[in-house]
Amino acid sequence: MTDLATFVAGLPKAELHLHIEGTLEPELAFTIAERNAIDLPYSSVDELRAAYRFSNLQQFLDVYYACARVLVESRDFYDLTWAYLVRARDDNVRHAEIFFDPETHTARGVAFETMVEGICQALDDAHDKLGLTSRLILCFLRHLDEANAFETLEAAMPHRDRIVGVGLDSGERGNPPSKFARVFKRAREAGFVPVAHAGEEGPAEYVREALEVLKVRRIDHGNRALDDPGLIDELVHRQIPLTVCPLSNLKLCVVDEMASHPLKRMLDLGLCVTVNSDDPAYFGGYINDNYVAVAEALGLGKDDVVRLARNSIEASLLDVADKERLIGLLERAVSEPPP
Ligand code: HPA
Ligand code: ZN
Repeated sequence: MTDLATFVAGLPKAELHLHIEGTLEPELAFTIAERNAIDLPYSSVDELRAAYRFSNLQQFLDVYYACARVLVESRDFYDLTWAYLVRARDDNVRHAEIFFDPETHTARGVAFETMVEGICQALDDAHDKLGLTSRLILCFLRHLDEANAFETLEAAMPHRDRIVGVGLDSGERGNPPSKFARVFKRAREAGFVPVAHAGEEGPAEYVREALEVLKVRRIDHGNRALDDPGLIDELVHRQIPLTVCPLSNLKLCVVDEMASHPLKRMLDLGLCVTVNSDDPAYFGGYINDNYVAVAEALGLGKDDVVRLARNSIEASLLDVADKERLIGLLERAVSEPPP
């Protein structure tokens, strides 16, 4: 490991932008497909991996939704989630906030309870066996209509003790946050914390809508907010966290090369920016890979890297005492690095 990679690996951190379906590694996809007698539209692990060449978000989503079809039983959701949590703990992730896409599965006849049961059992086991805390956030698919989202919200109501937030993902262009204004209002009234993907491929205006119409607590991605100086001022002033995903941005051509990633600019502007892996099975790296790739390409210093880890804890949905505990661990890791 390089010096930088060792330093990053030593920092306790939180992951705040992670789609559980995006952690489905090809090997596990084939194992689960076989036991559920489902045909994947790829003949081998190698052929599937070779399909991971995307020039935009939609090309990725087509493969991502095709692979998610293998997930049927609660055990499938358990295996998927557990594999991610073990991998994340290896990267010194101490807290993970995990998205899932209910409509991708309910549309195929999978019961809402099946997903929640499998995912939550793995989250509970990670708490007990790995000391890793977590939160679960459901995402509405923004290419579907408002009625679908309302149905999904209703299905989530009995699980409010386990699902703490609502988000918005899938194809962004042409699907503005305002399309889901009423659903988010209902969700907020029911106590769900609102977040939303915005400004990944969509314009700065969608980031503004997510803030003003959906009243989100965090913006997922948010890159395009940099096109609007007034919006930057507001994000800085309110310290609205941006959950940025460098390798995702590179793979989906949101940036041309890592050296032109805006993360350093975001930090220097005073934005509360965090680093996350988004869909690590598809984008070529888990969270530490994201930290190292962006830090190397932009020449970030150790103080920047520590700032990113600190932001991840502060921007999480943990309560104050748990945040303080993790910040304490982070400070100890910085002042007393392992020999
Ligand atoms: N963007 C939008 N929708 C998604 C993503 C993403 O990066 N990953 C999974 N669903
Ligand atoms: Zn995402």
